[in-house]
Amino acid sequence: MSILKIHYYGDPILEKPTSIVKNITANEIALVENMFETMYTVEGIGLAANQVGVNKRILVIDASRGQLKKERVALINPEIIFYSKETDCLKEGCLSFPDIEGAVERAISIVIRALNLNGDPIELEVKELLARIFQHEIDHLNGRMFIEKMNQIDRQMVDSKLKKLKKQTIAQLKEKK
Ligand code: CO
Repeated sequence: MSILKIHYYGDPILEKPTSIVKNITANEIALVENMFETMYTVEGIGLAANQVGVNKRILVIDASRGQLKKERVALINPEIIFYSKETDCLKEGCLSFPDIEGAVERAISIVIRALNLNGDPIELEVKELLARIFQHEIDHLNGRMFIEKMNQIDRQMVDSKLKKLKKQTIAQLKEKK
């Protein structure tokens, strides 16, 4: 297993919708293992493949932060097929936005259709925190980020941090070329 590099805001890979996975091979399985390991190292509760620089429609989630095996969820090609009308607006953070938080309005419960790692189609109904994490990660897979949906006051509060982070990321990307 290995720890993967997390890509930060300003990196164009985060704005690009990810590609559907056609075959689940040893590569995808290894990627999922590495994504879990990476997420635990940085104490995250969800991670999308494009956040580690891989343009594939894959996410991992563990709201227990590695404490409970049954909380480990890895999904291939997830889609949200139902959103509850009821929403709530709570604070979120993101591994691609260190030290940046803000409230985001999300559906309280959703239904997801995806493949598990065996390639079997599954449907998951989740609510509250889990529903929020899944919506956040599936947004990533669609090339969307939580700052786009952040409430306006919070968004203004973090505006200068966002500009700084974007500038830093772009400078680092240029250095590598
Ligand atoms: Co995120």
